[in-house]
Amino acid sequence: MKALTLYILSAMAFCSVSLADTLTIYSYRHYESDVLLFEKFTKQTGIKVEVVKSKAGALLERLKAEGDQTPADILITSDAGRLHQASEAGVLQPLKSAFLEQRVPVNLRDPEGYWFGFTQRARVFVYAPDRVNEKELSTYEGLANEDWRGRVLVRSSANVYNQSLLSSLIDSNGKRQAIQWAEAVRNNMARAPQGSDRDQMRAVVAGLADVAIVNTYYLGLLANSDNQKDRDVAAQLKIFFPNQAERGTHVNVSGAGIVAGTDSVEAAKQFLEYLATDEAQSVFPSATYEYPVVPGIAWSPLQLQWGTFKADTISLARLGELNADAIRCFNLAGWE
Ligand SMILES: [Fe+2]
Repeated sequence: MKALTLYILSAMAFCSVSLADTLTIYSYRHYESDVLLFEKFTKQTGIKVEVVKSKAGALLERLKAEGDQTPADILITSDAGRLHQASEAGVLQPLKSAFLEQRVPVNLRDPEGYWFGFTQRARVFVYAPDRVNEKELSTYEGLANEDWRGRVLVRSSANVYNQSLLSSLIDSNGKRQAIQWAEAVRNNMARAPQGSDRDQMRAVVAGLADVAIVNTYYLGLLANSDNQKDRDVAAQLKIFFPNQAERGTHVNVSGAGIVAGTDSVEAAKQFLEYLATDEAQSVFPSATYEYPVVPGIAWSPLQLQWGTFKADTISLARLGELNADAIRCFNLAGWE
């Protein structure tokens, strides 16, 4: 009798950890290459993947509203600022994975395992080489110099990429200096902030300004666009990695975490671990022009052409913690 009870209990335990047939992923990413990658995961594991795409803010609101009733098992979004917001909102659960801890560098994941970066990007300068001597460029801090009056383009401070960049400046230089920097860069802008990273690059080539702050993969996407005009834009710009003699260029990630309300922790863990395999990591450099997070994975020819660089190694979780401060500093500086 005792043996039978044990057998039933262990069978139940087995059922409760058995893998789900389907994982539902709430994703802010909208790349065809992601879908192809998820199909490879399905082939290997038999676990189907359904992707619900939406804006990052909308996905977070949905997860909050759905709570334990959510159909979502995994959240994928870009930028540590957003990943931190999700874990703060209680919609993610921590994951312990020796594989992920070994593969994903410690600064590119949450120390408690609420999220893991799986692609990396750098926030760099692009410039018009006919109007800018490379020697004029040095650091993010240097763009505050009066020499840049009317020559700079950056998008709105409502954008999380700028918020995380300012978080890194707060961490490095303090809040007071970060506000002064934001004020000075705002004064140096060729126009009030508007549009996307890609729009800033198009405007530099159109002659509106000389330098823009953008994420690396957008330059890759323009260079490989179906649109000839965008390919021409990319061909006329040069890339510069700031702060090489100091803390390094600001980098950030696209990352994923397991949703708190999931019933499929084991399958979700398998999926997250898959994103850090050599197979998955090798897809991103040439598909989306994002850098791998796992060291030793080959870069795409375009990334090699941009050149190697020293990356700021600050913990992205720390940047997430500073996100609210960064928003306050932007507001005080008058950067819309
Ligand atoms: Fe982006």
